[in-house]
Amino acid sequence: MTYWAAHDPSSKPVAGRTAYLILHNTSEVVTPDAEGREVLRFPKGAIVFRDGRVLEVGPATELHRKHPDARPLNANGKLVTPGLVDCHTHMIFGGDRATEFQRKLAGESYASIAASGGGIASTVRATSAVKDEVLEKLLANRLERWRANGCTTVEVKSGYGLEPSREIRLLELMGGAAIRVPVRVHRTALVLHALPEKYAERRAEYVEEVRTTMLTELHRRGMAGAIDVFCDPVAFTVEECRAVLQRAVELGFPVKLHAEQMAHFGGAKLAAELGARSADHLESATEEDWKLLAEAGTVGVLLPAAALTLRQSLPDAAMIRRTGARFAIATDFNPGTAPAQSLMECGALASRLCGFTAQEILLAITWNAARALGAEAEIGHLTPGAWGDAVLWECESLEELPYWMPAVRPDTVFMRGADLALPAVERRVWP
Ligand code: NIG
Ligand code: FE
Repeated sequence: MTYWAAHDPSSKPVAGRTAYLILHNTSEVVTPDAEGREVLRFPKGAIVFRDGRVLEVGPATELHRKHPDARPLNANGKLVTPGLVDCHTHMIFGGDRATEFQRKLAGESYASIAASGGGIASTVRATSAVKDEVLEKLLANRLERWRANGCTTVEVKSGYGLEPSREIRLLELMGGAAIRVPVRVHRTALVLHALPEKYAERRAEYVEEVRTTMLTELHRRGMAGAIDVFCDPVAFTVEECRAVLQRAVELGFPVKLHAEQMAHFGGAKLAAELGARSADHLESATEEDWKLLAEAGTVGVLLPAAALTLRQSLPDAAMIRRTGARFAIATDFNPGTAPAQSLMECGALASRLCGFTAQEILLAITWNAARALGAEAEIGHLTPGAWGDAVLWECESLEELPYWMPAVRPDTVFMRGADLALPAVERRVWP
């Protein structure tokens, strides 16, 4: 059974959904095909949006002839792609961990910082100290920043609440922030992230409470589109994760895992076994793991900012190609391991660190990322019938996307075929 959130914030209506327009005079329109197999290129192409969706994409002269009544919009010789999809973020949190970053640089490990009261536990304290309305606004501002960087869909994980009632608070605030900003928000409940202090001596009891009470409550309230866990020596074991995720699957939730991050631990295999939507991180995964993901149809999600912060290496493009697995790239935006605020910048980094082509990078931040969210039927590409979520970039070719650093920025971001103004005063989103 597929699980659909009762009040899915990603399906909220936005202004301009009845627009009928033709975006023309592009340098090129590039998009994954509907199956996400290859990137289609339409040099000097045009795209027609109607009722919020893509009606047609193709040669400009032909589309002008077929759609004389569409309102023309001049792309001024720039590149058009689908809106980007950031399929892995932890963007609801208070405070920052900049001081901790310095400790890491001085040689302290992630595990030792966590053991001394830092790490996830310190962000949990900082998050619970922020008032609801302030946290909701903070998240809304971050979503605006993601939109200004070309993301039209953003996954947001809970995980800095830990105790069930605090996790539910975060998921509720996400719903509030999502209706303030014209970005599709996919809410994920990260239910096993770290053991709360008050359960220090009662680990099994905590996992059981998450497995029973918490999942039941999330299901009853329709608050999350997927369930995630942190399967790692510094977090939860394969058995603990399996117990929770199996129950989630029984309830009809799609599942995903933070897997093979700090060590090779068995999370990728578990992801394949459960038919997870994605297995994320994978810094310590083997080629065998990637093969299992390929066979299961599970997307491998690479998080270059986290790997860089923890000074880990990323997999080689040639190895992933051999396995035939689909991979996405995401920011993993979080205060501990990935203070990364531009998905395109992460793409530019992965291109250099792994050896991916511009076409692979585009797939990784559009179609494949949409698939990691189970949304590839409607977003992540600009083929007829898909939502008209698109970006007009301040550059001319696909090859430029992973090339420029800092990353190329959008000129215009379309949501459901409507040109929704980006924040005019940058200070509003770039404090
Ligand atoms: O994806 N790996 C687990 N969670 C985060 C880090 C969380 C934190 O350090 O606050 C991650 O890297
Ligand atoms: Fe993460």
